[in-house]
Amino acid sequence: MSDRPNVLVTRPIMEVPLRTLESRCDVTVHENDFGIPRDELLKVVQGRDAIITMLTEKVDAELLGAAGPQLKIIANHAVGFDNITVTDCTAAGVVATNTPDVLTETTADTAFALLMTAARRVGEGERFLRSGQPWIWGPLMMLGQDIHHKTIGIAGFGRIGQAVARRAKGFGMQVIYADAIQLPAEVEAEAGARRVDMDTLLAESDFVSIHTNLTPETRHLFGAEAFKKMKPSAVLVNTSRGPVVDEDALADALAAGGLFAAGLDVFEKEPEVNPKLLALENVVVIPHLGSATVDTRNAMGALAVENVFAALDGTCPPTILNPEVLG
Ligand code: DGY
Repeated sequence: MSDRPNVLVTRPIMEVPLRTLESRCDVTVHENDFGIPRDELLKVVQGRDAIITMLTEKVDAELLGAAGPQLKIIANHAVGFDNITVTDCTAAGVVATNTPDVLTETTADTAFALLMTAARRVGEGERFLRSGQPWIWGPLMMLGQDIHHKTIGIAGFGRIGQAVARRAKGFGMQVIYADAIQLPAEVEAEAGARRVDMDTLLAESDFVSIHTNLTPETRHLFGAEAFKKMKPSAVLVNTSRGPVVDEDALADALAAGGLFAAGLDVFEKEPEVNPKLLALENVVVIPHLGSATVDTRNAMGALAVENVFAALDGTCPPTILNPEVLG
């Protein structure tokens, strides 16, 4: 039997970080395109020293128990870690890590792409042309909403929210944000952003972009009540986590003209997409592609591997979520 660390990667990751991992460890990559069914996952984690997980796998006491006492680290290949019960990791003496920073700009690009696609009816226009219907340029054809010089409200002003603000500034937009934390004046000045309460954000924004973590407090933060407070010309963008939005309420608001459009990268019951949303022309949907670029997925893989090596060496991983576990 090899004395190299035994590592499980729950989905195929980019080749370069995988080779780096293999240079020091015996690695099993789980090759199921649709993720690992829970009962199988509980078997394949057994005896691993480290596990690189995806946002699709729930990491809790049951999984940690199934893995066994030799497990040192759960390295999530994502910045979001709502799939991990960090307190369970700490109780089991297991380090938990995520991949922040390396995907900030790419995810902000995705948010802006959705914002523009939804506001200017790009998806709808493309579907229309591909349908082969007759058309000719018309002064009233598929009118959208201007983006430049409008107001964007950013819900959750962390790294990604601030990166969206930098993009908005380039479009001459007014930036307001709602966050539990008041950012230092220099950060606000750099982003050209002003903190407001959530009701003001909803009422004043032409665009609302969601960048909150998913927590019990943010689940369905955007529901019927919130949509009633928004402008009928407003566009909602979500690249954070699906359950922050009540999708039935969103579909109702969009269908009734309570909102102009929505751009969604994430879904309440992912990978299911609410059929009420799919039936609407004014919804742009993409399959959780926020960080999906070659460079960023290489960087996420590299950071996850760096975290694994640090934990195996008994040092502090660069993006540890539970430093208290190191004592
Ligand atoms: C994350 O990292 O949390 C994204 O949702 C996927 O990259």
